[in-house]
Amino acid sequence: MNESLNSNKQYKSEELYNEARHLIPGGVSRNTVFHKPFPHYVKQASGCYVTDIDGVERIDFANNMASLIHGHAFPPIVEGVTEQIKRGTAFTIATEPELDFARLLCNRASSFEKIRFVNSGTEAVMAMIKASRAFTGKEKIAKAEGAYHGTYDFAEVSQKAKPENWGDINKPNSVPVASGTPKNVLNDVVIFPYNDVERTLSLLNQHKDEIACVLIDPVPHRVGLVKGNDEFIEALYKWTRENDALLVFDEVVTFRVNYSGTQENYTVKPDLTALGKIIGGGFPVGAFTGRSDIMEILDPHQKNLLFPHSGTFSANPVTMTAGRIAMEHFDEQAVQNINALTQKAIDQISEAIGVAGVPMSITGAGSMFRMHLRAEPPTTYREAYQTKEAEALITKMLDYLFYEENLMMINTLACMFSTVMTQKEVDILSDAMLRMFKKFKPEIEQIQ
Ligand SMILES: Cc1ncc(COP(=O)(O)O)c(C=O)c1O
Repeated sequence: MNESLNSNKQYKSEELYNEARHLIPGGVSRNTVFHKPFPHYVKQASGCYVTDIDGVERIDFANNMASLIHGHAFPPIVEGVTEQIKRGTAFTIATEPELDFARLLCNRASSFEKIRFVNSGTEAVMAMIKASRAFTGKEKIAKAEGAYHGTYDFAEVSQKAKPENWGDINKPNSVPVASGTPKNVLNDVVIFPYNDVERTLSLLNQHKDEIACVLIDPVPHRVGLVKGNDEFIEALYKWTRENDALLVFDEVVTFRVNYSGTQENYTVKPDLTALGKIIGGGFPVGAFTGRSDIMEILDPHQKNLLFPHSGTFSANPVTMTAGRIAMEHFDEQAVQNINALTQKAIDQISEAIGVAGVPMSITGAGSMFRMHLRAEPPTTYREAYQTKEAEALITKMLDYLFYEENLMMINTLACMFSTVMTQKEVDILSDAMLRMFKKFKPEIEQIQ
């Protein structure tokens, strides 16, 4: 049993979990919430506070893996969705909320010329890749080692590459995530090292005529939450222009960074973009959007429909309503405010790192950041990679924060802010971090 749990106490969460384990593998439908000895079950949540069924209230810096930009039960969303639910939740005819939301999103970034909605980020990335193949007539994709893009076979290759199997940095292996991934899938995915222009271009050139798209997350969480350099993104843009390939962005997480997503930071624009998470206002969502001439391949008016595409719950009016309200409230000012507050948190935690004298660093962008067990911030996936020992220490640190400080964070020691947070929560967070750094200092030093 976890040290910080009271072994004499009967937790309601534990009772539920014991039953769940008989019905659901591991007791959970998403490994994200898996936790030993048992995950805690939620009773209710409001704003940035979540209360579990054993009555403990915690501040939520995970926000359902970066998807709740306004925290929990945001009143305008609750109101709008309640009204929509009374009118019906899913139809086999078109709905106005879809059009309203499409209009709003397409006005938000210049590269968003046409859009289609789906039900998850995984589905959005998958559809974007399939659109790229259909448009270019080519089969391979290229992606960064370590980058997470959801669970589509091709998009997940090398997401969990490790020293034993990642191979030479000049020619990284295509490493499967799920056992049984077909060899053809691995052969059709070219893996490159993020932010490494020279190696990446050399790898792409080896498959010049075969690559349909280069898939990029401009601030990939698993690669270390490091920003894509201008030089790197521009080089990919140029390479794709010269080789009849598409540059496609996964902004499922990073859309929160600016009003128009991280693409606002670059002089070049992606051909297609996948969205998800915050654009659902707390409901399952995904979208892919981009150049009209590419998106036309989905238009059933076409005599030769290159990419037939459907989904029973795609663009359902509940998600469309919640998403529209969430994005209306996430205007330019809201983006600026949340980014400024997150920067304050980063500054205060950096100060705590200095006061405690621990060899740790922070990376991030906009309203998100990640802490690393190394003095110098990582710049590559291989530097950000956590050994088993580092992972075990991070689990202990997260448990400390969860049980002793009543804080919830993402399992990489990352925080994703919501607009309802204030300086009060930032102070609570940085004070807790200082105590944690002091407590684990000897173990942090040992990991180096
Ligand atoms: C960058 C990125 N792309 C895609 C996905 C997949 O989104 P979903 O979990 O909605 O399928 C995620 C999920 O965390 C993600 O972080």
